[in-house]
Amino acid sequence: MTRVFSGMQPTGDVHLGNLLGALQRWVHDQHTTDAIHCVVDLHALTVPQDPAALRDATLRLSQMFLAVGLDPDVCTVFVQSHVAEHSGLAWLMECTASIGELQRMTQFKDKGGRASFVSGGLLTYPALMAADILLYDTDEVPVGDDQRQHVELARDLAERFNSRYGPTFTVPRATFPKAGARVMDLQDPTSKMSKSAATASGTILVLDEPKVVERKIKRAVTDTESEVRFDVAAKPGVSNLLSILGGATGRTPEEAAAGYTQYGPLKADTAAAVVALLEPIQARFRELEADPAETQRLLAVGAAKARGTAAATLARAREHIGLLDA
Ligand code: AMP
Ligand code: TRP
Repeated sequence: MTRVFSGMQPTGDVHLGNLLGALQRWVHDQHTTDAIHCVVDLHALTVPQDPAALRDATLRLSQMFLAVGLDPDVCTVFVQSHVAEHSGLAWLMECTASIGELQRMTQFKDKGGRASFVSGGLLTYPALMAADILLYDTDEVPVGDDQRQHVELARDLAERFNSRYGPTFTVPRATFPKAGARVMDLQDPTSKMSKSAATASGTILVLDEPKVVERKIKRAVTDTESEVRFDVAAKPGVSNLLSILGGATGRTPEEAAAGYTQYGPLKADTAAAVVALLEPIQARFRELEADPAETQRLLAVGAAKARGTAAATLARAREHIGLLDA
């Protein structure tokens, strides 16, 4: 079976873009692939974090993974820092990457250029991400476009290590969601819905109450025409609603457009579809939230499963690179 690995940082609240663009696909694909999904808390440390908030966000994102339907009996769900091999292999990856390669990453240039404090980890972050991926003999990494360059680097590092020290790692490839899976900001439909959006009203959170979802969608920016059709360039707002309606009901945006002649009913149906999608997720999240010990238990099981593969890969890499047996 194809081994799939993906990670998500425990920073900010999970929104509809994360759900329709990433989590829903992970849930769907867990049955046909050998999937590993990781809450990458070590990656969050590249920028300063409040300790209590980070701990809470890590638990909550783990609970969100479970609430959306990742089933620990079917796939592997765990927290990155619970498997020490991630940090262990990251060092070998840092020593395999060149500083020029790391400095060329556009995300480093963006984030590093803006921050007043730039940690060493912000630069070496892609080496840690390569370690995440390579530890599990990963074939496919489902990511958004912004992570394409990091997965390319993981490929390059795997190939370089293999050619220097002998066959050690599976060379992974990135896979991308299909067109229409990109959810845009409701108030600014030319930028993607994100945790760091300028307006909270442009972002639907997975834990938003039905009334809040309805209000945000009702106020979503459209255009001065009244025709309903999927045309991202000419009608970004309406197209975004169609992507959301389609994504929430398992259809393409074009299919979702059929039958609508006005924006009012489109918005009402989109809101209803999103509320129906979120309600069961919210109910499961509340149950998990009420019993953190059970989540911790499931995460321990996930970490133990992950460690089995990760330890074997790290042992292989250690041996090939010339570290003495412990
Ligand atoms: P982030 O919120 O940037 O940490 O992204 C976590 C995952 O959600 C990544 O796989 C992204 O590609 C996906 N994602 C984030 N924002 C969106 C969006 N607006 N539309 C679709 N997918 C998204
Ligand atoms: N860097 C990714 C992000 O910010 C998160 C991530 C860390 C990841 N390790 C990964 C994604 C491994 C895929 C595979 O979104």
